[in-house]
Amino acid sequence: MFTNSRNQKPGVTIQAIKQHRLYHHPLIRAGVSVASRIRNAARTAVRAITSKEFRSIIQLRVLNAQHVHQTTPLTSMNRYPVIFSACRDYLGDNGNLKILSYGCSTGEEVLTLRQYFPTAHIVGAEINKHSLAVCKKRSVDEKITFVHSSFGELQKHGKFDAIFCMAVLQRKPNLIEGKGITSLQKIYPFEKFEKQLIDLDKLLKPQGLLTVHYTQYSIMDTTIAPQYESLGDYNQDDYRSPVFDKNSLIIRNPVSRKSIFVKKPNEHST
Ligand SMILES: C[S@@+](CC[C@H](N)C(=O)[O-])C[C@H]1O[C@@H](n2cnc3c(N)ncnc32)[C@H](O)[C@@H]1O
Repeated sequence: MFTNSRNQKPGVTIQAIKQHRLYHHPLIRAGVSVASRIRNAARTAVRAITSKEFRSIIQLRVLNAQHVHQTTPLTSMNRYPVIFSACRDYLGDNGNLKILSYGCSTGEEVLTLRQYFPTAHIVGAEINKHSLAVCKKRSVDEKITFVHSSFGELQKHGKFDAIFCMAVLQRKPNLIEGKGITSLQKIYPFEKFEKQLIDLDKLLKPQGLLTVHYTQYSIMDTTIAPQYESLGDYNQDDYRSPVFDKNSLIIRNPVSRKSIFVKKPNEHST
């Protein structure tokens, strides 16, 4: 009846059972549900035993839930060439520039920034201890530093001329889309996003660049918005997941959201 060849994955079998007419029987449904949970728990246990990266993510979710945003360390070299080029064109490159890559994962973003800013000081900040350890093992020049992303630590290195916060200020975007979730209140409330931006703003020099890309909320909804104006038309239009308003509720027809912002000069600095 519910045949399973040796090569067939358990997930495929459960899927096949769900499509069978007997799946409507309450006992079968309950059995499938239990089997599914056992399978998920077993997978999690195996990953926790075999993968340092996975353990580190679990640790973050449990022990650092208050501070962590996106937990997935997905990254690659030169992920945002158009944005990086625009920021380089605006800032130029000189040995005094200070650049922060907030949420640098395993360091590829920092190595990429070095190509755009050959002489700048670059700080890569990460909350995930495993990713940070990978960063620290990299062979880099003396003007690149990798640090834990606590505010106190970053204050020692700032203030910065540019801050890149790319694909960090979001939570489980794929799952949220898949499950049709309409409120982020419990998963990733707007206030957490806003507090992070307030902290980043404190670390940025007047006339510096705040680049915030692939987010579930808009910087324009936060209290720092009046201090910023967008640079060019660089935007998040290719962000494929749902976006949310300042009440953490889904926006059905979102407007275009910009990615690069210039901090206005201090009133007293002119
Ligand atoms: C999807 S990766 C993005 C990496 C890189 N910025 C990029 O766009 O390729 C998100 C990273 O943000 C990090 N992260 C999440 N919350 C953070 C926090 N509070 N401080 C520093 N890093 C954080 C995660 O650990 C993860 O490495």
